[in-house]
Amino acid sequence: MAGRVDGKVAFITGAARGQGRSHAVRLAEEGADIIAVDICRGFDDSPAPPATPEDLAETADMVKNLDRRVVTAEVDVRDFAALKSAVDSGVEQLGRLDIIVANAGIGTTGVKLHKMPEASWNETLDVNLGGVWKTVKAGVPHLLAGGRGGSVIITSSVGGLKAYPQVGHYIAAKHGVVGLMRTFAVELGQHSIRVNTIHPTHVNSPLLMNESTYRLFRPDLENPGPDDLAPICQSFHFLPIPWVTPADISNAVLFLASDEARYITGVTLPVDAGSLLK
Ligand SMILES: NC(=O)c1ccc[n+]([C@@H]2O[C@H](COP(=O)([O-])OP(=O)(O)OC[C@H]3O[C@@H](n4cnc5c(N)ncnc54)[C@H](O)[C@@H]3O)[C@@H](O)[C@H]2O)c1
Repeated sequence: MAGRVDGKVAFITGAARGQGRSHAVRLAEEGADIIAVDICRGFDDSPAPPATPEDLAETADMVKNLDRRVVTAEVDVRDFAALKSAVDSGVEQLGRLDIIVANAGIGTTGVKLHKMPEASWNETLDVNLGGVWKTVKAGVPHLLAGGRGGSVIITSSVGGLKAYPQVGHYIAAKHGVVGLMRTFAVELGQHSIRVNTIHPTHVNSPLLMNESTYRLFRPDLENPGPDDLAPICQSFHFLPIPWVTPADISNAVLFLASDEARYITGVTLPVDAGSLLK
């Protein structure tokens, strides 16, 4: 049986681990070849442990094990020239581009906006908003050159549609990518290029499952762990789960990437267990 994105090529940022890796594998399972990029190092301000070159190589192996082709590059999404070179080289090797998944992002925690250091604000906006713009900017010329349309999927957050305290830089960036998405959708629709955002609730990737998040959510405990985080995360939802998995987000990415969504553009799609109903 033909896959849902058979013969297509997807460019995915933040693909070394977490949701980005899961998107690479899910799209490859359904027939796509993959251009996978990641910074593969940490951020001073970030509580999540750094992704590594070995993580990105493991993503590549997982794609290859599905008999799909993969091109990888260690790239910081803040560096447009490096992004462009990675996607140009990937398209040269794989022959085309159909899907852009602007997924790379960071989360730093714990300060109210009026006390936030400028460096923290700048870093989060540069990666989570500027990096998304640069990712799409690097990929779009290839979608246009292909003349077959395309699908651009941007990872926002429930925090891109609603505010939460202590993470104002993240909230501003994730709202910002909705504006980017809408503008790209308006500008590119005539070329049959669709542009949508996905808004995950808590996802059990390293971005969430780390000590700093446990402490942010459970300041009442001395040594909080995942089990202590679960009831707090659950309280955000109507469905009886504390978090979703990367695979749940990948299924939404796959749908938006596939021809099943051929007339869906400009949409903000929550995968949120009912979080936005609260
Ligand atoms: N985990 C959650 O609870 C959650 C919820 C809503 C939205 N999101 C968003 O989902 C996306 C994926 O996050 P995840 O949960 O897989 O986290 P993760 O930390 O496991 O993965 C993020 C990946 O992006 C990479 N990355 C970060 N900055 C980069 C840069 N400047 N250039 C290139 N690569 C970079 C990291 O190295 C890492 O491999 C992010 O945009 C995040 O904001 C996450």
